[in-house]
Amino acid sequence: MEIPSASHSPLQRHIGRYLDKRFDWQAFPRSEGHPLLERGQMRFIGAGGSPKVDDPNTLPPHHFTLSIIDLPVDHYGASHYHDDCEEVFLMLDGRATIGMTWDDVVLETCLGPKDLMLLPIGRPHGYRNDSQEAARLSVMVGNSRPKMPIYVAHPTQSEYSRQFGAAPGKTEVYSPSSTDPRHQAFGRYLCRYAQQPIVWHPAGFAAKVYVGPGGLEGTGFREDLVMVPRGVGIQPYARDVEDAYFVLEGVLTVGWEVDGKFAETRIGPKDVVLNPAGRVHYFRNEGFEDVQFMLAAGTDDFDLATLKAR
Ligand SMILES: [Fe+2]
Repeated sequence: MEIPSASHSPLQRHIGRYLDKRFDWQAFPRSEGHPLLERGQMRFIGAGGSPKVDDPNTLPPHHFTLSIIDLPVDHYGASHYHDDCEEVFLMLDGRATIGMTWDDVVLETCLGPKDLMLLPIGRPHGYRNDSQEAARLSVMVGNSRPKMPIYVAHPTQSEYSRQFGAAPGKTEVYSPSSTDPRHQAFGRYLCRYAQQPIVWHPAGFAAKVYVGPGGLEGTGFREDLVMVPRGVGIQPYARDVEDAYFVLEGVLTVGWEVDGKFAETRIGPKDVVLNPAGRVHYFRNEGFEDVQFMLAAGTDDFDLATLKAR
């Protein structure tokens, strides 16, 4: 039985459903005329690095944006940097090579599902699909209306665009055991799903801090990968900044209090709900499998331990 909730309800208007969306293959003007730069963008919150900030089908951003990139085999995003925002890549499906530049050296690593890379302000970076399957990664930008990226190794600028600007012999594979300060710095921006410790919270769910205290050091937002066992849920809560739930596995029931009444709906893999500042909201798992979702919050001051079991 479907939970009754009109599509025009305030809660429904703050949900982005994967099945309702399409990839936009014209999201990035600088890719036009460069077939290997073509990539699809599916916008959930704001426009991210695309100039399409007035898309009526996306949720309005406050402290961060959220989109999914579809990167075909052999395609890449040319190296660029942002001077007004941090960016976070979370791998969803397949794998992608991420490169970051220090002087004339590019360090690279491969991200697998649920691995995350934080791209700091001013640090050139790019991504490339060297695999045999399509790669999909989510992109979160810590600014509601970021300026356009500044390219440093676009094909019009560098003959080594595909190598993110690295001349032959200037690409290094990231090594966690290296004593080179560049490798050590690179490692501080990388979060591996398999390596990140699990924290169990009193309300009965577990989390891995990806960005925030205990995880990577971000400025002004955080991301926690939350695992909600079957049957577990939390009491309604509100924060003075927005948060978003981005489901990776399972089906999450989300609820809002609106005018003294509770409205609920269920969201599945790659669906997003954006909970505005001040809105009373909650989640629970009434499905038949454990749920994993990324909880993104517009502040690094968000303690999951304060959430209470329902
Ligand atoms: Fe970027």
